[in-house]
Amino acid sequence: MKVEIPLSQAHRLLAPRPACLLTTRYRGQVNVMTIAWVCPVSLEPPMVMMAIHPSTYTHGMLQRSEEAVLNIPGRALAEQVAACGEASGADVDKIATTGLTLESGHRVEVPGIAECLAHIECAVVTAVTPGDHTVFVAEIIGAWVEEEAFAGTWRCTQGDTPEDQEELCPLLHLGGRQFCVPGKAIEV
Ligand SMILES: Cc1cc2nc3c(=O)[nH]c(=O)nc-3n(C[C@H](O)[C@H](O)[C@H](O)COP(=O)(O)O)c2cc1C
Repeated sequence: MKVEIPLSQAHRLLAPRPACLLTTRYRGQVNVMTIAWVCPVSLEPPMVMMAIHPSTYTHGMLQRSEEAVLNIPGRALAEQVAACGEASGADVDKIATTGLTLESGHRVEVPGIAECLAHIECAVVTAVTPGDHTVFVAEIIGAWVEEEAFAGTWRCTQGDTPEDQEELCPLLHLGGRQFCVPGKAIEV
């Protein structure tokens, strides 16, 4: 039997998705925010969309600098992911409070987060605001990943031990304070 759920929860049927840490930089200041509403929207050229609420500090920084790094954390950074999704860069220096380490970007002026498993560097090409979030569409101009974590796809389930497997997987967001990691590969 299926039950109707509140419309406000319907988007969670499209989870889990990686809980990313988005870094932005404007006038020398670097900020990081947690973002899960990220989706590929073009293969050629490769593009992603990021839905960002106008109330966030990141929104203004990204509008101005038009560059960002999508950093993809693993389970080890769950606490930092939660923290970067609660505080605002308008109030606190989240890089300092979380202890995350910045490393220079390769093709953008924005630094990435060294502790993350992967980094997608991107440049904004357009933005639309169809509802209460702005959808920034950005071209991917470079991507890097821990080599043991990825072989054409995430290798999540191929570590030697369950702990290895979890460490090499992206942390996935289910909604609210709920997260998970992938558990079992299925090849068809
Ligand atoms: C797991 C998780 C996922 C989130 N995903 C998004 C998102 O996709 N878009 C968004 O605008 N805010 C999202 N947030 C909320 C922002 O991270 C939060 O508003 C943050 O404080 C904004 O930081 P800033 O003001 O420094 O930019 C998420 C929060 C969490 C904890």
